[in-house]
Formats: sequence, structure tokens, C-alpha cells
Amino acid sequence: MKSTRLHPALRMLLLALGLLFALVLAIFAWQLLHEPGRDIQAVPVADAAAQRVRGEYLARAGDCMACHTARGGAALAGGRSIPTPFGNLVSPNITPDPETGIGKWSADDFWRAMHNGRGRDGRFLYPAFPYPNYTRVTREDSDAIHAWLRSVAPVRQANAEHSLRFPYNQRWLLAGWRALYFRPGVFQADASATPQLNRGAYLVQGLGHCNACHASRNLLGATTVSGELTGGLIPMLNWYSPSLTSSAEGMQQWHSADLAALMKTGVSSRGAVFGPMAEVVRESLQYLTDEDIAAIAGYIKSLPPTPQLHADLAGSSRIRDRAGILRLGATLYEKNCAECHGADGHGKPPGFPPLRGNGSVMTPSAVNAVRMVLNGGYPPSTAGNPRPFGMPPYGPFMTDAEVAAVVSYVRTSWGNGGGLVLPSEVAKSRTVPVE
Ligand code: HEC
Ligand code: HEC
Ligand code: HEC
Repeated sequence: MKSTRLHPALRMLLLALGLLFALVLAIFAWQLLHEPGRDIQAVPVADAAAQRVRGEYLARAGDCMACHTARGGAALAGGRSIPTPFGNLVSPNITPDPETGIGKWSADDFWRAMHNGRGRDGRFLYPAFPYPNYTRVTREDSDAIHAWLRSVAPVRQANAEHSLRFPYNQRWLLAGWRALYFRPGVFQADASATPQLNRGAYLVQGLGHCNACHASRNLLGATTVSGELTGGLIPMLNWYSPSLTSSAEGMQQWHSADLAALMKTGVSSRGAVFGPMAEVVRESLQYLTDEDIAAIAGYIKSLPPTPQLHADLAGSSRIRDRAGILRLGATLYEKNCAECHGADGHGKPPGFPPLRGNGSVMTPSAVNAVRMVLNGGYPPSTAGNPRPFGMPPYGPFMTDAEVAAVVSYVRTSWGNGGGLVLPSEVAKSRTVPVE
């Protein structure tokens, strides 16, 4: 008699598939139905006008305008493209227009988005909206931001579709991402730390979302859950965010006052901001009170050092004529750069930043210095530094080998601990659009 029973191996396979399916279903159902923060109710406010003023301030601290405003577009009406390794996202309209914006959102709906990364209809939101940070924000602060957003001019502008590749365009898959990387929860003050330190931690980990850039990301675009600020290359943008910990290549040498000046004005006696950090200062940090800036600086200075990252020596080990390259670099530096940055790299701060001991120049990847030399640039214009001095672009006048030589010189002179740069790295940076 012939057996109708399945082959044992096939049975095992079906069983395994069945279990896997049940697991996926369970994760999805849990993420869908479990709503942390639901029990945290709105706090009644006596003075609605004061709440809105506070809300605007907090929205500045969260840098909402930067992402939710397209270049030349109406404020907060969305439409800015946000490139990621998974495709482009387009920020939505968060003005109070009832049809195309968030005019129909209640304070509860808004809290759900900030705290738990869910849309008004319950959809999982993409973490390009930095809710893994905003979840640290208190209900009171979330309500204040919402109250302010309701008071801005409504703009009728329909949201554009994201253009993400398969499978990243499947929102429901975010259930798995959330299970792995998202830990909702309001910031818990450390009872053993000063109120100032707690305030700094609250702003950095929450609204400031500093680790969205100042940490490396894994293959699924997640930063570490513990929110370290060890630095990393920002994918797609191709700028390197330096470590903000108190290690040698981080903030060890910085005084809190210089750190505060950098955040408030864009320039300092240790360096100037550029690239994406210039926007953070222009749109967000310059508006914070001196107390909040001091709190952020104090918190950053308190971060324990992290193990030294090694400069990308893979490239430089292939360089044979080290002395020749540095000789060329020194000549080019003397001729083109010393006038502003000083023969000894001390610069003339705050107008012309020092390159000696400048963490942003010594990062494992040389992109920052390479792109500055290619394209030049200006620190942001801020209330504290309204007419910044600029740096001319050298890309049009120097060959890849020359840029590589002068950057190699800057990264390794005066005690700087960066690595040498290959001309091919410069060539790559030439193809990155200047923003
Ligand atoms: C780094 C860029 C970025 C920043 C900063 C940012 N957002 Fe967003 N935000 C996005 C993106 C992208 C989406 C769309 C997410 C999606 O479609 O899943 C979004 C979605 C939202 C939504 C959901 C809107 C809807 O129609 O579903 C709200 C509400 C929101 N953001 C509010 C804010 C507020 C308030 C701040 C500041 C505290 C802020 N965002 C800061 C990028 C950003
Ligand atoms: C959009 C990405 C982004 C965000 C968000 C961001 N940064 Fe940065 N930051 C950078 C990049 C890129 C640099 C390197 C360029 C430079 O030095 O200006 C940088 C540089 C810095 C520097 C100078 C470091 C050095 O060694 O010279 C400090 C300090 C800093 N950031 C603090 C912060 C703080 C505090 C926050 C949060 C409130 C923050 N950043 C948020 C991208 C970002
Ligand atoms: C006319 C003055 C001037 C000259 C000449 C000049 N720079 Fe700069 N440089 C600046 C200014 C101003 C900044 C700040 C720009 C910013 O923050 O966007 C800067 C920033 C930089 C930075 C980023 C460091 C930081 O903290 O902002 C590097 C690296 C750099 N310059 C390298 C060079 C090199 C190499 C040369 C020669 C090839 C050069 N510069 C020539 C004025 C100059």
C-alpha cells in the first residue's frame, strides 16, 4: 500500500514555514494593537497663547521646519525630498489645512505620531521622521508643538508620494523594523544628575535628534537604540558627522563655551559649521536660549569617551610616495590656504576656523575636508554672526591629485591624526551635487 503521508523533510519545512508565518503575524499584530503612550493624557493649559509661543520654540528645537519645508516652498507645507539608501521620501504637509495638511489631527493624534510613530489612520510612519528620538518628548511639549502648528497659516498642497524601492515601499514591513529598533518611551530624568544635565540630555536625545546624524546606521537604516553619538557617515548626503563624545577625535579639547558659540552662531574658536550642520544651526540651534545651549554643551561634555576610531587607512596604505604627496600638499597649502587658516593651522577664529586640532577635518573619512576644498562655502548667517566670512572653491582650479595632496597635508600636519587621501576619493566627491 502506497503512503499518502508527506515526506518527513517536507513536513518539517511546512512546519517551519507555518511557524515563521505565525511569528510574522504575531509581530505585526503586536505592533498594530499595542499602543504605548495611550494612557498619557493631555495636561490642561491655562494660557493658550503662552503655550503656542512655547510650541514654536520647541518646534525650532526639533528642526521641524527644515524637513517639512521645500526649498522656496511655503513653510511647513512639505515637499522636501529626503534621500535614503532605500529611495526618496517626501516630507508631508504639516500646516493646519484640513484636506492636505494635519488640520483634522487632534492633540491625541499628534501625540501618537510623536510618541509612537503612527499616522492619524494608524499607519506606521517611516523613521526618516525622527520619532525614535521624538518619543522622548513629554506630552506637555508635544501638545505645545501641536497648538503652535494649528496656529500657522494653512497651505493647500497635496502630499507627494514617496519613491521607495520594493520592499521598502511596503509600510506594513515597518512592524518588523519597529520590533527590532524602536523603543518608545518619554525621557526619564536621572535623579543623580543636575537639572541642567537632564535638560541637555532631554534636548539632545529627544527634539534635537542629534544621533540621527551623529551615529552610524546599520543596513536597515537604524541607529543604535542607546543613542550613542560616536559619529558616522550620513548615507546619501556624504558628509561625515564627527564623534561628539569626549574622546580625542571628539569634543575632548573643546571648552563648553566654544561648543556653545558654535551652536549659537555657527562659528567658534575651534571650528565653523558647514554642510548639514550649517542648516541645523541656521534653522534650529541658533534660536535656543543661552540656558538650553549651555545645557546641551554641558551634556555633550559629560559623554564618556569612546574607543578611538581608526582613520580609513585602507586607501592611504596604497599610497607609496607619502613624502612627495605631503611636500606637494605643503606647497599648495602655503600658496592657497595659509592666508586664512595660518601657516601653523591656527586660523583666525572665529572668522577663519583653525584646521589644527579640528575634529571635523580628522574624521575617519576625509569627505568633509575634500568637499570644503572642492566647493568652498559659508557658515550660516545667524543673529550672532550675521555676515560670515566665506571660503572660495578650489575644485575648478585644482586637479584631483592636488586636492588630495592639500587635504592629506591638512589631515596629518600640526599633530592632526587623520589619514591620507587618494585622488580617486576626490573624484568621487566631485560627482556629489553641492547643496
Ligand atoms: C529629518 C526630517 C524630518 C524632521 C526633522 C521632522 N520630520 Fe516630520 N516627517 C518627515 C517625513 C519624511 C515624514 C513622512 C513619514 C511617512 O510618510 O511615514 C514625516 C511625517 C510627519 C508627520 C505625519 C504626517 C502625516 O500626514 O502622516 C507629522 C505629524 C510630523 N512629521 C511632524 C513633525 C514635527 C512636529 C517635527 C518637529 C518636531 C518633524 N515632523 C520633524 C520628516 C521629518
Ligand atoms: C542633519 C544631520 C545633523 C544633525 C541632525 C546634527 N548634526 Fe552636528 N554635524 C553634522 C555634520 C555633517 C557635521 C560635520 C560638519 C561640521 O563640522 O560642521 C556636524 C558637526 C557638529 C559639531 C562639530 C564637531 C567637530 O568636531 O567639529 C558639533 C559640536 C555638532 N555637530 C553638534 C550637534 C548637536 C548638539 C546636534 C543636535 C542638537 C547635532 N549636531 C545635530 C550633522 C548633523
Ligand atoms: C579666504 C579665506 C579662506 C581660504 C583662502 C581658505 N579657506 Fe578654508 N575656510 C574658510 C572659512 C571662512 C571656512 C568656514 C566655512 C564654513 O564653515 O562653511 C573654512 C573652512 C575650511 C574647512 C572646514 C573646517 C571648519 O571647521 O569649517 C577646511 C577643511 C578648509 N577650510 C580647508 C582649506 C584649505 C585646504 C584651503 C586651501 C586650499 C582653504 N581652506 C582656503 C576660509 C578660507
